[in-house]
Amino acid sequence: AFPTHVRLFEMGARDGLQNESGPIIDTAVKVELINQLSDTGLTHIEAASFVSPKWVPQMGDASEVMSNITRKAGVTYSALTPNLKGLEGAIAAGVDEVAVFGAASEAFTRKNINCSIKESLERFAPVIEMAKEHNIRVRGYVSTVMGCPYDGDIDPAQVAAVSRDLMDMGCYEISLGDTIGVGTPLKAKRMLEAVAKQVPIELLAAHFHDTYGQALANLYAVVEEGVAVIDASVAGLGGCPYAKGASGNVATEDVLYMLNGLGIETGVDLQKLAQIGHWITAQLGRTSGSKVALALGCN
Ligand code: HMG
Ligand code: MG
Repeated sequence: AFPTHVRLFEMGARDGLQNESGPIIDTAVKVELINQLSDTGLTHIEAASFVSPKWVPQMGDASEVMSNITRKAGVTYSALTPNLKGLEGAIAAGVDEVAVFGAASEAFTRKNINCSIKESLERFAPVIEMAKEHNIRVRGYVSTVMGCPYDGDIDPAQVAAVSRDLMDMGCYEISLGDTIGVGTPLKAKRMLEAVAKQVPIELLAAHFHDTYGQALANLYAVVEEGVAVIDASVAGLGGCPYAKGASGNVATEDVLYMLNGLGIETGVDLQKLAQIGHWITAQLGRTSGSKVALALGCN
């Protein structure tokens, strides 16, 4: 059954901006984006990524971003932390919540974080442990849940296994990433069914990229099954630097419009969000990837 409330997890400042190939975006622009997003009713904003700046140059100012944002009460500001070095940086910068990120595919794990799936889990264990000691919740991402740019088709059982491991290790939520946006609704349902046998559906989030224009349809399919947390990027910003050709997350505006139409409550203001999408894409010299923003005249 459809949930009555969906929690939107805004990805624009992290998944969105990490993939910008042009010049490094000013820290002040990132800070302004996060501050504006904080005023829309969003409760979860992924704000930065404590990864190697050699791997992802756009996220090299994670500490500065985290120290300069104006924190709004009731908003959780999170960051990616692939290892202890990243977690130490995140703790020093006062991050509320962190995330480790693995994948269901060996080849993608290797390209993205330079190790095998097994090694990645071994690396995450002390990260999760240390985060717990600091009372910081840890989210777990599983990438390539509906296909891998290197390994092709992915067995849903493999997605379920990695998701289960991350939950057992202490992640409070598992975000299922269609990293390259190749999924279709039936595939999304079958993948979810397999994972939900291992991880309660209440602990699952959908993180779908829109490369093939299927993200909204795929979201509808999994929300109908009860998924109540959706990751999305304002204006559909982004992609993944280690998944060539992948486009951004589904646009938050588009998800919100669909949820509003379904009568599912989010607490987020669509008009404000669309204006922010307009502003940030103008900063980046592009137009919004959100059809809804376009229809609302925010372009
Ligand atoms: P490595 O080279 O194997 O690591 O990278 P290493 O431990 O050998 O360290 C190499 C160098 O990186 C050293 O510096 C370290 O100090 C430094 P050097 O001695 O050469 O000067 N280093 C760091 N610097 C800053 N922060 C750190 C850090 N760690 C090491 N945390 C590593 C391994 C994981 C670090 C690297 O592969 C990496 O940073 N990968 C990040 C990849 C990434 O950010 N990808 C995008 C995010 S995931 C995503 O977008 C998918 C998602 O959206 C879901 C979906 O869509 O599916 C979440
Ligand atoms: Mg992503």
